[in-house]
Amino acid sequence: MIKNLLKKEILGNDSGEDELPRADLPRIILFTGKGGVGKTTIAAATAIKTSGLGKKTLIISTDPAHSLSDSFSVDLMPTPTKVRDNLDGMEVNVEYELERHWNTIKDYLTIFFRSQGIDDVVAEELAIFPGFDELASLLHLLDFYQRKEYEVIILDCAPTGETLRLLSVPEIAKWYMNRFFGIEKRLLKIVKPIAEPLIDLPLPSEEVLDKIQDLYVKIGMLKEILESPQTTVRLVINPEKMVIKESERAFTYLNLFGYRVDCIIINKVLPENAGDYFRKWIEIQREYMKEIEDRFPIPKFQLTFKSEEVVGEKLDTIADEIYGDTDPAKVFTLSKPMRIEKENGSLILVMKAPFVDKSQLKVLKRGEELIVIAGQWKRILYLPQSLAMRDPVSAKFMSGELRINFR
Ligand SMILES: Nc1ncnc2c1ncn2[C@@H]1O[C@H](COP(=O)(O)OP(=O)(O)OP(=O)(O)O)[C@@H](O)[C@H]1O
Ligand SMILES: [Mg+2]
Repeated sequence: MIKNLLKKEILGNDSGEDELPRADLPRIILFTGKGGVGKTTIAAATAIKTSGLGKKTLIISTDPAHSLSDSFSVDLMPTPTKVRDNLDGMEVNVEYELERHWNTIKDYLTIFFRSQGIDDVVAEELAIFPGFDELASLLHLLDFYQRKEYEVIILDCAPTGETLRLLSVPEIAKWYMNRFFGIEKRLLKIVKPIAEPLIDLPLPSEEVLDKIQDLYVKIGMLKEILESPQTTVRLVINPEKMVIKESERAFTYLNLFGYRVDCIIINKVLPENAGDYFRKWIEIQREYMKEIEDRFPIPKFQLTFKSEEVVGEKLDTIADEIYGDTDPAKVFTLSKPMRIEKENGSLILVMKAPFVDKSQLKVLKRGEELIVIAGQWKRILYLPQSLAMRDPVSAKFMSGELRINFR
């Protein structure tokens, strides 16, 4: 698994080609960010805006804290619940989903582990597939995507750390299932009656195999949809040190996992007239706004810090403040700003770079950060583990991209 993940981290997902999303397929928007930055609020406001523009919208909360109900001031069920015209919302019930998708498989695995002399309690624990609770909400997404009932599907995700884990689940799940159940179904059918009396291994029943096959196929489809241009991730951040740091890391990994981050939304920006008490804070935020500019080379939206909680009717106002006349379902940027390629034993970090004058170029590495300066242009990049361990040794420009060689 580690090798597989590493390969994924190293190679990224594709060549960074910019395809367009299709209008006849649902548009999926995921909102994530550090805890408390305003993900739920902004996801809800976005859903209100798209539904107001006449697009049938579903918003799904994958966060076990389920604050989406509070945000809308509507009790949301684990199935689509009407919030207003063109807008439904739901909060995923993980336990129910586990039962639905995994129980048959879990029963078999428990028997299997027990047959290997593993203690009952431990066997049951082992049989719970890692990350399944997270996968459950993604399976919902797939379901609604395929039914094409909604034009826009919005996911209010858990904080960044968990979201990154969640988004790596399809990859890990595929590996896990391949490893465990990689035997051809047909082969098993023949082997089973002969093998079972001879060896001490309970083999999975037809039902178990069907379930596994089903789940395996679904995970594959999910991966494809999440990596397609139908799906984009939006990072909600606040102009604060810790938030920027965490979001930067998320930004790097999302890019490398092959997901598109199409914009960031800077929330809780203090207005200039916030008063004397906040003077220092306003200055600090101004500094961080500049830093955000250097670190996130993608479109940005903003929302000011309101004088009270933003729930219910107030969501309409903030939706207008964030998006103005822009349709939030638009994909704001298609290109992925970076990827990593392997070349003769070196790793090449490839970044979009709007300049071609190498004589101006300066590349500095500071711990896990890479600073690239060319005249007025500056980028600060959080490096993934695989690059942080190496040093940049050379750089070149090729077709609008800067290629930095790490060894
Ligand atoms: N621009 C804003 N001005 C004032 N209050 C805001 C603003 N944005 C969000 N809030 C408030 O901040 C609190 C946290 O917002 P929200 O629940 O949307 O954050 P979250 O990122 O989803 O949090 P969690 O990580 O717990 O899911 C809420 O009380 C919300 O009303
Ligand atoms: Mg939330």
